[in-house]
Amino acid sequence: MNIKYLEKSRLFKLDTNNTSYVIGVVDEEGFLGHAYYGARIADDDVSYLMRIYENPKVPSVNNRDRSSFLDTFPTEFSGNNVGDYRESAIAVTDKNGASGIQLLYKGYRIIDGKPGIKGLPATFEGESKAMTLEIDVVDATLGIEGTLSYSTFEDSDAITRSVRIKNSSEDAIYLDKLMSMCLDMDDNNYKMLMLHGSWARERHIEYRQIGYGKQSVSSTRGESSHQEHPFIALVGENTTQNTGEVYGFNFVYSGNFLAQVEKNQFDSLRVVMGIHPDNFRFKLNAGDEFYSPEVVMVYSNNGLGQMTRTYHDLYRNHLIRSPYLKKPRTVLINNWEATYFDFDNDKLLDIARTAKECGIEMLVMDDGWFGYRNDDNSSLGDWQVNENKIKGGLKKLVDDVNAIGLKFGIWFEPEMISPDSDLYRAHPDWAIAIPNRIPCRSRNQYVLDLTRPEVRDYAYNCVANILKSANIEYVKWDMNRQLTDISSACLDKDRQGELMHRYVLAMYEMQERLITDFPNLLLENCSGGGARFDPGMFYYSPQIWCSDDTDAIERLSIQEGTALIYPLSTIGAHVSVCPNHTVGRNTPFETRGNVALAGTFGYELDVTKLSAEDKAAIPKQIGTYHKYNQLIRLGDYYRMASYSKNNLYDCYEVVSKDKSEALITFVQVLNQPNMHSINIKIDGLDDNKMYRIEGTDEAYRGLTLKNAGLLIERPWGDFQSMLIHLVEE
Ligand code: GLA
Repeated sequence: MNIKYLEKSRLFKLDTNNTSYVIGVVDEEGFLGHAYYGARIADDDVSYLMRIYENPKVPSVNNRDRSSFLDTFPTEFSGNNVGDYRESAIAVTDKNGASGIQLLYKGYRIIDGKPGIKGLPATFEGESKAMTLEIDVVDATLGIEGTLSYSTFEDSDAITRSVRIKNSSEDAIYLDKLMSMCLDMDDNNYKMLMLHGSWARERHIEYRQIGYGKQSVSSTRGESSHQEHPFIALVGENTTQNTGEVYGFNFVYSGNFLAQVEKNQFDSLRVVMGIHPDNFRFKLNAGDEFYSPEVVMVYSNNGLGQMTRTYHDLYRNHLIRSPYLKKPRTVLINNWEATYFDFDNDKLLDIARTAKECGIEMLVMDDGWFGYRNDDNSSLGDWQVNENKIKGGLKKLVDDVNAIGLKFGIWFEPEMISPDSDLYRAHPDWAIAIPNRIPCRSRNQYVLDLTRPEVRDYAYNCVANILKSANIEYVKWDMNRQLTDISSACLDKDRQGELMHRYVLAMYEMQERLITDFPNLLLENCSGGGARFDPGMFYYSPQIWCSDDTDAIERLSIQEGTALIYPLSTIGAHVSVCPNHTVGRNTPFETRGNVALAGTFGYELDVTKLSAEDKAAIPKQIGTYHKYNQLIRLGDYYRMASYSKNNLYDCYEVVSKDKSEALITFVQVLNQPNMHSINIKIDGLDDNKMYRIEGTDEAYRGLTLKNAGLLIERPWGDFQSMLIHLVEE
């Protein structure tokens, strides 16, 4: 890892172990250009890559064609309305109502470490070293200054980027748009990989051919969303898991985003990623600053698999702060699919007692314990325990559960307010709403205006007071609707466009407060399943409920897309009953367990109603979880076959960092008649080590397993699965 300024060629060069990123200062005016991003190169002068010696040449040579220059120059951070017609990275409205802006080079700093980003989650230096380049830019006409920040890490091939804007003029300006990154590069017939989905169907992998014009994924829903994900990758034509090029871009933010690829008239691409400009306008008074969230870029020329492992390691080593990151997670049972709203303390204690017999370690009480909430129509905001259900109060229930030998966890949805709640009757103005317009309901609820300090304090104190009232060791923080009616009673007229971003900042502030005040709490985020499963949330919680779909087969695709970027240790995954509540499918109990192993592992069912056979399987499943959890939490992930592509079977593997063991999961979704065994090439092993398949006499060298493969005999039946444990001899 290194960052240097090559003075003669006016180039900034950032090197990670295997990649280089080069920025150039060009011409007398100091245009900031992008020269190169890709596999590592030498410290040579590569300014020619910016094509500044070709027509139309730079403005000092040919100012007559300045617009042609600005519209073709691979810029590091595009301006707006002054000649570059491609997507702008920044847009402002100045005191005259005009919108031109062009940020030019001013100076730089190279610093050890990595500064945080005010109010926002961000990667940090952690236990290995980091280095940061800050390039100062300015629009002298407007008096707007900016800083483009880039960080590299000693142990990673990722590069992070963010932007800071300061209004150094004497007048207010409006920031209408600020992307966190802009990257211009030649197209190489890349495809765009995106993760799309819906409720209960999150993060399915999809490819699009990149055509001329703009193609994007985005959210304007106030959260990162079920529907589209703040991640895109440019993937080479022939890229596989192990070969070929891929550029990944992931946004460390939990609100509205835009990720866009634009192919222009000269077959160049411009990638931008940042807060979505829709419904966004931030007023900066003289001296005010605005911080953009961070983007994590990963380049790999060893296929998608290497990109995946780079993201996993970066997030484990430089983003997730929770003390639980490195600890085995408690095996929990959650009562949501077991009871929905229909429970009381007796029911929960029955579940707890049987769960204890099975080896389960924690009971989580989900939605429905507060106010008078017996369905999803009321009481959000009234966070007092419902003593008709929880007789004797919460402390008594928690003590009783603890006495059985289980820890206790609880569900909250602190960002919400039901129209039918005491809170709403007392403070109708606390809900986000447009004056004189009845706000749009979703799941019969409104969103609290957390940007108001008194609302934020109320919501936070509700959670904190409950946590202080009993021995509660886990919180599931849910968020079950997306934002509409964007308007705040406490923001000035010309600041209404700040609400969406301020909302995300306020939510982050609440979570920061929670983990500071309760440092031993295990926090699991959730949003109607996985609508806020993004790197921003990992700064606060080490795990996120991945999807409300607990069907083992649907989960294969959801978990494949999720694990493309995020470590398995972050993926909330539980075993539930069949027929599955979302899709009605019946799968073997064993397969449900094997699929949930590639996540945090737990149960979401009424254990008192299980068949004797399934119940008897739980202790064994938990034993398997404990046996492999360290490997799964900390190991390297390899994707070997994908049911979403072949429609038949799924296969993935986790290899320990020292390559002494590997766990392969094979799930046969559909059996085929009259077929022989399946050959799977096993990646990630040490070529020279001998590996024994645990429980057999078979042993093979890593090299053989990699190139010749392992034969997997098809199990009898659909939805069958197996775990194959390879152990170094
Ligand atoms: C969301 C969550 C579920 C459950 C319900 C409760 O949908 O994803 O796990 O907690 O809310 O209302």
